[in-house]
Amino acid sequence: MMKYVVTAILAGCLTLAATWDPKSISYDQKDQVQTILEQLGGEPLPHKVDLKMKGVSVEKGMELLTTGITKDRNNKKTKQQSNHFLCTSCHNMLKEDPDLANPEPQARLDYAVEKGLPFLQGTTLYGIINRTSFYNDQYIKKYAEIVEDARYDIRNAIRVCATVCAQGRELEDWEVESILAYFERTGLKMGDLNISNEERNKINIALESKNGTEEARNIIESKYLKASPANFVAPPEDRKKGPEGITSTDLSNGEAIYKFSCLHCHENKRFSLFELGDDKLSRSFLDKHFNRYTRYSTYQVVRWGTSPIPGKKAYMPNYPEDKMSVQQLEDLKAYLNQSSK
Ligand code: HEC
Ligand code: HEC
Repeated sequence: MMKYVVTAILAGCLTLAATWDPKSISYDQKDQVQTILEQLGGEPLPHKVDLKMKGVSVEKGMELLTTGITKDRNNKKTKQQSNHFLCTSCHNMLKEDPDLANPEPQARLDYAVEKGLPFLQGTTLYGIINRTSFYNDQYIKKYAEIVEDARYDIRNAIRVCATVCAQGRELEDWEVESILAYFERTGLKMGDLNISNEERNKINIALESKNGTEEARNIIESKYLKASPANFVAPPEDRKKGPEGITSTDLSNGEAIYKFSCLHCHENKRFSLFELGDDKLSRSFLDKHFNRYTRYSTYQVVRWGTSPIPGKKAYMPNYPEDKMSVQQLEDLKAYLNQSSK
């Protein structure tokens, strides 16, 4: 009996010795994508955070993003960044697309419902340090002068949004750096990417042997986008008839958009003056105006946004097609119509 136990232990040790290699490197799901890319010989990011600047911290960055207020370097409360919005009025701070290589509004809506995230006009700020260009596609066409300096510069992208999107005060240098420090902390992780087992092995072999590093980097970089797409679309030409090519609508989808999008800002006037609730009165009001050419038409506000009210300066950003598809807007229309009867 004893002999068997000893043999078994010995055999166990031998197998362990065979598989345990102190030099073996393999990445962890929690590792930052950028760290792994650099270990594979990739370039560092162009926007390293300056943590030595006085008053900079990740926590202050998070406070600014989620509450609009933090403490300055003398431990005094800063002025509220904007009287109308928080950064989180229009942006998520968590991953919002199940497949980062192929962001798609319906997959994002399903994911938002599953995770309880709002469904918004701006892109998520999670993983933004892994992007290299900002205010893409139609934003650069429509707001060329405003976003020019922000196109490839994340600090300017933060500054522009603070004053132009959020209609608030300018950010101090240490505030921008703190926001950037928070962004750096919330860069994409390896576990966020849809990497197959075979690809994972290739990456680990490259990490260990330093052979095939370029291919490994290419695999990783094919799993997410370096720019968030933004294509604008007009309301249908004939608002009553609706857009061509839509043959059916999904009421529960429409309901999800109403709850996870519209109510995010309009319920209890959280980030707006115009109030909407989860009640028949609100829904029938929107239903009545949906197809009209009035300021209350959902077609109008979703596709063109609203302009800032002078002196009030809160406005509604439009939804690019990448943020709300033509089908989804019709689903919302059908839901408002059905649920207000
Ligand atoms: C009223 C809505 C709104 C508010 C408030 C807002 N943003 Fe934005 N932001 C947008 C929209 C719309 C864009 C356009 C690009 C996109 O996100 O798709 C954008 C773009 C950005 C971008 C570039 C994203 C990219 O990949 O193109 C950054 C960075 C950013 N905002 C940071 C902030 C920060 C920091 C705050 C708070 C100080 C803030 N935003 C507040 C709506 C808003
Ligand atoms: C990011 C926040 C935000 C989201 C999300 C949002 N809105 Fe708005 N909306 C505003 C703001 C701000 C205004 C400007 C007027 C105000 O402050 O109430 C506005 C204006 C409007 C108006 C015109 C009101 C008027 O007084 O002229 C309508 C109608 C409207 N929104 C409907 C919607 C619907 C429907 C949705 C969902 C598809 C939606 N909004 C999503 C912030 C938002």
